[in-house]
Formats: sequence, structure tokens, C-alpha cells
Amino acid sequence: MLTHTRAVPTGQERFFDTEEIIVSKTDCTGKILYANDVFLRVSGYDEAELLGAPHSIIRHPDMPRAVFKLLWDTVESGHEIFAYVNNMARSGDYYWVLAHVTPSFDRDGRIVGYHSNRRCPDRSAIAKVAPLYDQLRDIERSFPDRKDGLVASVARLEGILASAGVSYHEWVWSL
Ligand SMILES: Cc1cc2nc3c(=O)[nH]c(=O)nc-3n(C[C@H](O)[C@H](O)[C@H](O)COP(=O)(O)O)c2cc1C
Repeated sequence: MLTHTRAVPTGQERFFDTEEIIVSKTDCTGKILYANDVFLRVSGYDEAELLGAPHSIIRHPDMPRAVFKLLWDTVESGHEIFAYVNNMARSGDYYWVLAHVTPSFDRDGRIVGYHSNRRCPDRSAIAKVAPLYDQLRDIERSFPDRKDGLVASVARLEGILASAGVSYHEWVWSL
């Protein structure tokens, strides 16, 4: 893994084609073991920079932590998740994806790593996801203690989903 100084967000969006899939595989801690060519091109990173790096290398600071908690809670419990994620390229540009993250198991049913496929999301879905994520992120930032912020943000997300009578999974597919 090569290190680099994290970019500052540019506010510029980048896109990839609807038939393309951004793929990565990680170990159990989220360290990147594989990234396909589409991942390299869209993120702007070289393979040598990505391999061995934590997946948070492409984390966008605008993303609410509640979504990553939901992602990890789901996959660590052996389930798969579809999630909208705003990622940050090496340049600081952002790109939205609809990610499908799945655990990989060994013969004894133990989780040995994770896999993610990402497609280009519909703009109409992003128009609904982005305001919710902004709300969650603002809640997280309004608490001096990060943990308190996360608890409040998760509670808000769960509250919104409960009042709509849907799970996150159902909400994702309703957009
Ligand atoms: C297979 C897999 C794929 C992931 N893909 C992304 C991704 O595309 N973008 C991202 O920000 N985090 C992704 N994550 C989550 C990161 O591991 C991390 O939890 C997240 O970036 C938040 O980082 P932080 O906890 O350091 O704030 C992925 C995790 C796994 C296991």
C-alpha cells in the first residue's frame, strides 16, 4: 500500500456508464484485496495505492457514519446489503454508487472477507437519498462526542424508516 495525502472535496461529480460495474474485494477488516479496472479509473487511484488500503480510502466526508454502521452490522452478521454510497475519488471529486456488499464464507460458514459490486444509480434515487444523508450527517456533526452523534443519527434513520413502515433494504428498492 502506498500512502497519499487525502484530497479535499472538489464538489465536482464524476460518472461511470450504466453498464459498468465497480468491483472490490476486502478482507474481514475492510482492507482492499482486489479492485477492478473500473474502480481504478473512476476512483483515480493506482492499484498499488488501493491494495492493502482500508476501504475508507474512498470515503467521502459528507457520508453519514450511520450508513456505514448499518453496512458493517449487516455484513458482519452474514447478510448482504444494498446501499447508496457517495464516494470520493483521489482528486476529491465525488461519485454516487448503488453498492451491493456481500460476505464470503469458508466451508465452515466463517466469514473470510467481503465483496462489493457497484452500479451507477438513477438520478431520481440520488435526489431522495442525498437530502436524507445530509440530515443524518448534520445530526452526527452536531454532537461534540462522535459516539453520541452516531447513536442519534442511527435513531433518526430507524425512526424515518419505521414511520414509513420499511426496512433500509425496502427503502433502497422503493426509490
Ligand atoms: C466490501 C466493502 C466495500 C466497501 N465499500 C465502500 C465504499 O465504496 N465507500 C466507502 O466509503 N466505504 C466502503 N466500505 C466501508 C468502509 O470499510 C468504511 O466503513 C467506511 O468508508 C467508513 O469509514 P470510517 O469508519 O473510517 O469512517 C466498504 C466496506 C466493505 C466491507
